[in-house]
Amino acid sequence: MRDAALQAGDEVLVVGGTGLIGRALARALPEVGLQPLLVARHDPPTGLLAAPTRCLRLERNELPALLRSGLLPGGHGRALGVVDVLAGSAGETAPLLDALAQRPGRFIAIGSAAVFGLARSGLRHDEASAPQPGTEAMRRKVDVEQLVARRRAAGVAGCVLRIAYPYGPGHGPLGPLGRARDLFERLQGGGVIDWVAPGVFSPLQPLAVDDLARVIAALLTRRAALPALLHVAGPQTLDWSAYLEVLARGRPLGRRLRLHDADRLCALQPAARWVIDHLRQAPLLDDAMLQAMGLACRTPLAAAVDDWAAWCLSGLP
Ligand SMILES: NC(=O)c1ccc[n+]([C@@H]2O[C@H](COP(=O)([O-])OP(=O)(O)OC[C@H]3O[C@@H](n4cnc5c(N)ncnc54)[C@H](OP(=O)(O)O)[C@@H]3O)[C@@H](O)[C@H]2O)c1
Repeated sequence: MRDAALQAGDEVLVVGGTGLIGRALARALPEVGLQPLLVARHDPPTGLLAAPTRCLRLERNELPALLRSGLLPGGHGRALGVVDVLAGSAGETAPLLDALAQRPGRFIAIGSAAVFGLARSGLRHDEASAPQPGTEAMRRKVDVEQLVARRRAAGVAGCVLRIAYPYGPGHGPLGPLGRARDLFERLQGGGVIDWVAPGVFSPLQPLAVDDLARVIAALLTRRAALPALLHVAGPQTLDWSAYLEVLARGRPLGRRLRLHDADRLCALQPAARWVIDHLRQAPLLDDAMLQAMGLACRTPLAAAVDDWAAWCLSGLP
């Protein structure tokens, strides 16, 4: 993919396009005149997306052949944006990059802050830090980063965004027992809230997904070329009690709040093991480069939580 900044009217293929990040891109890209084309295996539920948003129902591994066939957008010399939201392995991303080789445009893959694996408490990682992934999924994310770096050396306009924990309409809140869409309901209703005791988990840098989508739109359209790697985190570092306080929107929880250590959380919900392993020593990101570019994410959790809660409570898909 030869570097070309996108202009109004250009199309953006969003691979994995109907989930949390894809939906936010469907809102943000039209704001800068770009046309999203969302790729997913299933049709989005009725009412999920604004009317003009186009969707393509396919497996991501069918995309390279379709791109080569010329049936997909980006023809006639126009720049094409591609956002690989899934970017789960180099084996899946490489054929996509091969199929895009002759096109002008830009490629952005969604990476993860969790590539750093276990992080020293309080240390902020910068873009140059060598990642030491702690899980197989994160090793594959690093493979994607390395693939994009190699292709860049061969002239491909690609970038990986290592993102912190994204939130917003489209996912339930992350809690110590996993994601729970009904958490807002429980916070404003009755019943016990099982939460993590202070200091057991590292703090969070929650990232409003609409901020992330605006960063992606800006990277696709800015005149300057893309950097290889960027960290994208929210403007706050919140410990888990402050995070819960914001989710509760000021409601006192009193005795309804039960605090547990990691072993007790696991006993309550064995599936919490994954969350516990990841969040005990989660990395903190230093996205100074993003800020220097004027693309910083600035929405504090409290400013976005009402919208998020409204979606969780609405029953909308
Ligand atoms: N959640 C976090 O806390 C977090 C933190 C850091 C990084 N990330 C990164 O964020 C990305 C996930 O984004 P998200 O939260 O928007 O995901 P999501 O809400 O789970 O959405 C996934 C999307 O991909 C589609 N999809 C899944 N498999 C597919 C396939 N084989 N072919 C085509 N489409 C497929 C899904 O629709 P169908 O099921 O209909 O295909 C859906 O549209 C990942 O790269 C992840 O590593 C997430």
